[in-house]
Amino acid sequence: MQNHWFDLTGRIALVTGGSRGLGRAIAHALASAGADVAIASRTQADLDVVAAGLRDTGRHALAVCGDVSDDASIGAVVERVIGHFGRIDILVNNAGVGDTRAVVDMSPTQWDHTLNVNLRGPMLCCKHVGPHMIRQRSGKVINIASVLASRVARYMSAYAASKAALVQLTRTLALEWIRHNIQVNALCPGYFLTDMNAEFFASEKGQSFIAALPIGRLGETREIEGSAVFLASDASSYITGTTLYVDGGHSLT
Ligand SMILES: NC(=O)c1ccc[n+]([C@@H]2O[C@H](COP(=O)([O-])OP(=O)(O)OC[C@H]3O[C@@H](n4cnc5c(N)ncnc54)[C@H](OP(=O)(O)O)[C@@H]3O)[C@@H](O)[C@H]2O)c1
Repeated sequence: MQNHWFDLTGRIALVTGGSRGLGRAIAHALASAGADVAIASRTQADLDVVAAGLRDTGRHALAVCGDVSDDASIGAVVERVIGHFGRIDILVNNAGVGDTRAVVDMSPTQWDHTLNVNLRGPMLCCKHVGPHMIRQRSGKVINIASVLASRVARYMSAYAASKAALVQLTRTLALEWIRHNIQVNALCPGYFLTDMNAEFFASEKGQSFIAALPIGRLGETREIEGSAVFLASDASSYITGTTLYVDGGHSLT
């Protein structure tokens, strides 16, 4: 194995939800591997802080405000990134929302919101970035799904359904774009401490949940980084449509 297989020098990445949590860690990992990175989310102030940190590593960074579930908004984000960098080599569809709710208590609006951000969002991002990757005849798409794409947890119906569907979107798109030399893969994190779940894991219930995990602890955000760089790099050039679990063995149970 040669190190240059993981070298992302000269590549341009777009990471949605790059302002916090796993997205921020992935943006930093891609930059550390040599990529220039655009990050997108709905909160410009958060993005600006992360972009400044990315620039401190010596890479170029762009912070673009947008909503992945809105066609016009994400279209404008992609055009801004293309206008600034000229291309997008790596798309990380990471922006996502959690929702814990019994089906009988769920309004259609709540269901739609989870599905719109977690499933429609990645589709819209692919729709807007795809033509550029097809034209350049190369690209890497990494969809951040979840261990709940294949496991279930009570009261997580909308979230689990959105992530299971995202895995199938990944597989379908991988086949659709294989002739364009674009690899599309899904990364399924287990449980990592971020804003999305901090409240739950601080609770007594959350603490016993952690104790019951096969590995006995949550993932640290740095532990998602290597797999993201792998799927973004030439090291994974013969891998498409696959689902990589980074879950401390959670899917074994
Ligand atoms: N943490 C875990 O244990 C875990 C486990 C499995 C899978 N995941 C997945 O990993 C991804 C990141 O999760 P996280 O834990 O890092 O979450 P997080 O800390 O809550 O961060 C979510 C990110 O997505 C952005 N975002 C939310 N809605 C958006 C929208 N409509 N348009 C654009 N950006 C939006 C947020 O910024 P704004 O709110 O400012 O827009 C933020 O940057 C998600 O897809 C999640 O489902 C996480």
